[in-house]
Amino acid sequence: MAPKVGGKAPSESSRKMSPNLLGGAAAAAGLLLGPRRHHLFLGHLQRRLHAPQGQARAPAGQARQAARSERFPGGTVGGKGPAAAGETGPAEGKEGIPPALRQRGCRSEDEFKAVIQEIEKEVQRRKELSCRSRERKTIISQNYRPKHPQLYALQESFLAPQFLETVNYCTSKEADPQGLLTRVATISDKRIYRLPVFSKEFCQAFIEELENFEQSEMPKGRPNSMNNYGVLLNELGMDEAFITPLREKYLQPLTALLYPDCGGGHLDSHKAFVVKYALHEDLDLSSHYDNAEVTLNVSLGKEFTEGNLYFAEFRQDTNPVPKYIEVEHVLFHGLFHRGGQMHGALPVTSGERWNLIIWMRSSAVRNQLCPMCNREPELVEAEGFGDGFTSSLDGGQSDTVDVCALI
Ligand SMILES: [Fe+2]
Repeated sequence: MAPKVGGKAPSESSRKMSPNLLGGAAAAAGLLLGPRRHHLFLGHLQRRLHAPQGQARAPAGQARQAARSERFPGGTVGGKGPAAAGETGPAEGKEGIPPALRQRGCRSEDEFKAVIQEIEKEVQRRKELSCRSRERKTIISQNYRPKHPQLYALQESFLAPQFLETVNYCTSKEADPQGLLTRVATISDKRIYRLPVFSKEFCQAFIEELENFEQSEMPKGRPNSMNNYGVLLNELGMDEAFITPLREKYLQPLTALLYPDCGGGHLDSHKAFVVKYALHEDLDLSSHYDNAEVTLNVSLGKEFTEGNLYFAEFRQDTNPVPKYIEVEHVLFHGLFHRGGQMHGALPVTSGERWNLIIWMRSSAVRNQLCPMCNREPELVEAEGFGDGFTSSLDGGQSDTVDVCALI
C-alpha cells in the first residue's frame, strides 16, 4: 500500500524542557556497575544547558527534542549532536538561568525554581522505574492467571508463513540485501519495510490475553508516559520465552541485512510493549524518536479507522515542521524502521488499535554514541536489559564498533 506524502503535521509536545541540577543525579551518572545499564540522560541535559558560551552545546531544536524526551522516556534526542559545536545562545545571566532555558522564555527565579522542581521529580521517578517494574513483575508472576498460557512461549505456528520463508532466506548462504528486498515491501526510501509477521489467530488470542490482563487486579506499568494504555511485556513474563527468541532467531536475520549500519546484526537487547489507542483513551502519539536502533511495529488489531503512522527524516529536527509520509496499518503485518526515524501516530477516529512495539537495541552501537543525546553515554547500573547499554568492566572487551564509521 503506497504511503501518502505530505500528511497532516502532527501535534507536538508542549512540555517545557528541564535542566538537571541534581548533584545526586550527576554522581549516579558516574557509576558503572552491573552487566546492563541505563543512560541517565538528564545528567547530559544538565551539562548542555550549563555549557558556557562558545562551548559545544545542543542547538535549540535538539533541546526541544530533549523536552519531548523528558515527557516520553522512550524518546530520543535527535539533531546534530556534537557536530553542532559553535551554535551558541546568550550567555548565562546573572540570575543563573542557563542560556538554553532563557531562550525558551524562562526569565524569572520562580520559573527557574519550578523547572528545577520538575526535573527533580523526574529524576527520582526514573531512578525508581526499574525497582517498581521488578516489584510488579514479581507480583504478576505469582498471582496472574493467563487466559492463553500457551502464548508465553514462542511457537512457529504463531508466525505468518511468508515471514518464516523470509527468515529462512535470510539465514541461507545466498542471502543478500537485494534478495531480501524482493521479499519485503519497501514503504519509502526512508528504509521502512513491511511484511506479514504473525498469524491472524495468534493476534486475536494475544489481544484476548492482553485484555484479560488489563481487566485483572494486577499492577500495571505503562509503556511510557505518553501511552497510558498498553502492556509492558517483560512485566507480563513474555520476554524470556517469547520476545528474546523472536528477536534472536527470527528478527535479527532480517535486520542484519536491512540495517547493518545501525547494529542490525548485533541486536542484543530489547524493550517490548503493546500500545492501545481508542476513543476516550489515547488517540494519537506525538512526533518522537525511539530509544532503539531498530523498531518493529506490528498491527495486531482490532478494527479501527484512521490512526495512521507518519514518518519524517532520520534524526530530523522539528523546526521547521518537516514533511511527513503517512503509512497505513496492515493487520498482522510489521513495519521495520530505524529507531532514529522521526515518527508518530495520527488519531484513531473509531474502534481500537493495538500494536506490538519491539525496540531492538545494539550495545555495540549505543555504547559508543547514546541515541538520546548523541554523545558517549555515562551509565548507571540497571535491572534486566536496562536501556541496552553494556560495559567492558566485567572483564574482556565489549564487541563494539566505531559509529563514526557507520553514519
Ligand atoms: Fe515510536
